[in-house]
Amino acid sequence: PLHLARRAVLLFARPNAGRTLGTLAGALAVAMASASEPLLLKAFVDRLTAAAGAPHSAAAAGVMGGVALFVSVLGARLVGAAWVTTSTWRVKLGFEYQMRSRVAAKLSVLSPLTQSEIGTGGLRYAIDASAPQTAGAFTDVAFRVAPILTYVGIATWGMTRLHAPIAVAVLCLVPIPALVAVSTARHQSRRDRMHQAFWTRFWSWYGEVMQGMGTVRAFARERAEERAFTRRMRWAFAAIQRGVAVDARSTLAAGLTELTARALVLAWGGSLVVRGELTVGTLVAFLGYIGGVFTPVQQLVDLYPTVRKASVALDAVFAVLDADEEAPDLPGAVPAPRLSGRVRFERVSFGYRADRRAIDALDVTIEPGQTVALVGPSGSGKSTVLRLLQRIHHPTHGRVLLDGHDLRALEVASVRRQFGVVLQEVVLFNASVAANIAYARPSATRAEVVAAAAAAGAHDFIMALPGGYETGVGEGGRALSGGQRQRIAIARAFLVDPAVLILDEATAALDPVSEQLVQRSLRTLREGRTTLIVAHRLNTVRDADRILVLLDVP
Ligand SMILES: Nc1ncnc2c1ncn2[C@@H]1O[C@H](COP(=O)(O)OP(=O)(O)OP(=O)(O)O)[C@@H](O)[C@H]1O
Ligand SMILES: [Mg+2]
Repeated sequence: PLHLARRAVLLFARPNAGRTLGTLAGALAVAMASASEPLLLKAFVDRLTAAAGAPHSAAAAGVMGGVALFVSVLGARLVGAAWVTTSTWRVKLGFEYQMRSRVAAKLSVLSPLTQSEIGTGGLRYAIDASAPQTAGAFTDVAFRVAPILTYVGIATWGMTRLHAPIAVAVLCLVPIPALVAVSTARHQSRRDRMHQAFWTRFWSWYGEVMQGMGTVRAFARERAEERAFTRRMRWAFAAIQRGVAVDARSTLAAGLTELTARALVLAWGGSLVVRGELTVGTLVAFLGYIGGVFTPVQQLVDLYPTVRKASVALDAVFAVLDADEEAPDLPGAVPAPRLSGRVRFERVSFGYRADRRAIDALDVTIEPGQTVALVGPSGSGKSTVLRLLQRIHHPTHGRVLLDGHDLRALEVASVRRQFGVVLQEVVLFNASVAANIAYARPSATRAEVVAAAAAAGAHDFIMALPGGYETGVGEGGRALSGGQRQRIAIARAFLVDPAVLILDEATAALDPVSEQLVQRSLRTLREGRTTLIVAHRLNTVRDADRILVLLDVP
């Protein structure tokens, strides 16, 4: 955990080092001002008592002077504290910003296998809950520990100077709430770990059910899923409730200890005042310190669970940050030049799991401009071959070469930008039709978008939509039919000027008439470009230059 904390500080806090130090200095100054207040109050009260018999005008001047001093110290502290709060938030958000942006950058290169292992909802929870928790813990530690120790140090010194025996009695009570809190800490951190695991799983499941609501309804599983939902919620809420009870007990213990300290000072100090052995000002100062010293010590102890929680959160964040990229660039990778599209699979083997190969020793060269059809039974690895070419997966043995370069020797984005891809499962984003078509090239003009849509056989149905090209497609494109979505995806591929076309059952969801139409456009698009095409229908495969038959590997 400690080395994770160090990495977190180096990664997320360093960019903001100057402000962090400034805030710490401010917090220290505020702590010193707070610690001097009881002493100022004492001096003031004692002066009042002494002046009780003095001439009126002199006494009034003394009072005014004392008030002025007190007000200015208090005022400065309040202004300082407000500044520290603002600045603390800036540091905290800066920390969170660094963290979130790094995780976001990582998500786009995370291996799809890891991603499906953790689950999308789970990943989101890991980030959404962890980032503020960790950032909060960082600022708490950075801006609380030293000021609190400063305050307690000055308070200890002050109280000892005022009256050592009472000071010792009070200081003996101070650690009690801390000890209570420490005794519950293990329980709490076990609870936090459980919660983190629970909510990660919960959101994974929940996201999946939400996405699959159609399936849930189709099989009339609403009630069952609802029961699962409420059961999980009840379990989690019961755990929260138990935790709150434990926390409330330690808060109560802290309050009672503070009460004891006050009673002690009032009784003991009060009797000394009556006997003339202690001034009223000293008594007031003691009460001030008691009010001031228990809360910070409590806060110091509260840091413990905060830090524990953050360490659990850091585990989750670094699990994402340290997760393997499936196929990282080789050292010295360069941006791809304009590709001609010679594709070579060199004895490529790949398995999603170690014990089972989806592709076994595939060895094939595709010349620039050739169209190759991949056929084979469902599950034989057709989509997998296309993913290997896109470098979404990386071969366990062998290499994939593009224009003679090992794929990984080229920067991944520079290669993918030269691919036109229509996947088996079309994903549209919740934006307009036009924005979805222009997804790969947002700078495309409207005329280009329309031309792409026309080539994909989509223009007519788009014009029939209520808002034409500006119509929203709904979440995941659900406002469109499967065939319409597919044509949008094809239009997308038309709009990039790809060197390699990758079509995974791109026309499977179309009716025969529109398929004919799209096939004709695709034929135009394919000219001069290497094309890998997966299709079940014979007429799609017919005009391919080569047909690659994949067999199911047992
Ligand atoms: N993400 C994954 N994790 C684990 N196994 C996978 C994953 N994706 C595919 N597989 C497995 O790899 C094998 C090949 O899958 P692939 O999707 O390449 O088949 P396909 O030929 O495209 O099938 P279809 O015609 O049904 O689309 C299958 O046995 C499948 O179970
Ligand atoms: Mg497939």
